[in-house]
Amino acid sequence: MKAQILKLLRAENGVVSGQALSAELGISRVSVWKHIKKLREVGYGIRSFPNGYQLLRSPDTPFAWEFPGREASIFYFAEVDSTMDIAKELARNGCPNLTVVVADRQNKGRGRLNRKWLSDAGGLYFTLVLRPEIPIILSSRISFLTSMTLARVLREMFDIDARVKWPNDILVNERKICGVLSEMEAEADRVNFINIGIGVNVNNDPSRSEPQASSLKVLLGRKIARKDFLRSFLDEFEAQLHKADLDRVISEWKRYTVTLHRRVRIVANHDVSEGTAVDVDANGALILQMADGSRKKILYGDCFHRDRKL
Ligand code: BTN
Repeated sequence: MKAQILKLLRAENGVVSGQALSAELGISRVSVWKHIKKLREVGYGIRSFPNGYQLLRSPDTPFAWEFPGREASIFYFAEVDSTMDIAKELARNGCPNLTVVVADRQNKGRGRLNRKWLSDAGGLYFTLVLRPEIPIILSSRISFLTSMTLARVLREMFDIDARVKWPNDILVNERKICGVLSEMEAEADRVNFINIGIGVNVNNDPSRSEPQASSLKVLLGRKIARKDFLRSFLDEFEAQLHKADLDRVISEWKRYTVTLHRRVRIVANHDVSEGTAVDVDANGALILQMADGSRKKILYGDCFHRDRKL
């Protein structure tokens, strides 16, 4: 109902009478008033006139009703420990493909390799529950599809040079803007669910504690509507999933990468490898050319670019 009220108020761009709203929505005027009251309580600026209501401003909060067609599959929270935990519970309880858990802040945001993910207000933190019908061996391609889609949407929406760093960081001017974390549960050799957690530095500024990171607001010099970005990303990601051409994901991803043809250092637990990144194989492993001419396949780790692009 809130989605419909907002749609009518936005369409008019002026005052809409309570009578028109109640007739259009098939509810009483008291009911309309109650929804308007609720919308005001969560931050919408709605002015009352003797003859109706006018929407003056909307908060940049990813309430489910701001995503027409996806209302039932978006779970919004102001604050959580981690959207990964909630998504895992939902997934184990059978929630459908493309369920989204999104939060304004996380107290225990998680990054890859057991790191913390700073989750201050202003950023966009969400986890997608995916149920692809694929064998486990192909599951890593979903993370590559995610990072590639993030880079693509950022480029299209903001005209910025968004790139991917192996495996799935999104950088602009060598600064990290987004991170991707995946968690999977499987039975036998089939995927039960893959949860993809995405943290986007939008209107926050992580650079004080993470000098290598930046945000869209810092880059563009203006505030960005998180809900517009989330909407565009979900639409594009869903379209990409339907194309389901997982054979082409890595070659597409390579078009956006800044890792290949560079000297890199990969740190995985206590193992450090240095070499030139020469390729990424079909399942996302990084191929390093070592100083002695041999090749090494790297399955996971932290990647540090050692030089400027060759
Ligand atoms: C990384 O680059 O290390 C991955 C960061 C992933 C962060 C996101 S924010 C939403 C989701 N919830 C979490 O706790 N982590 C992921």
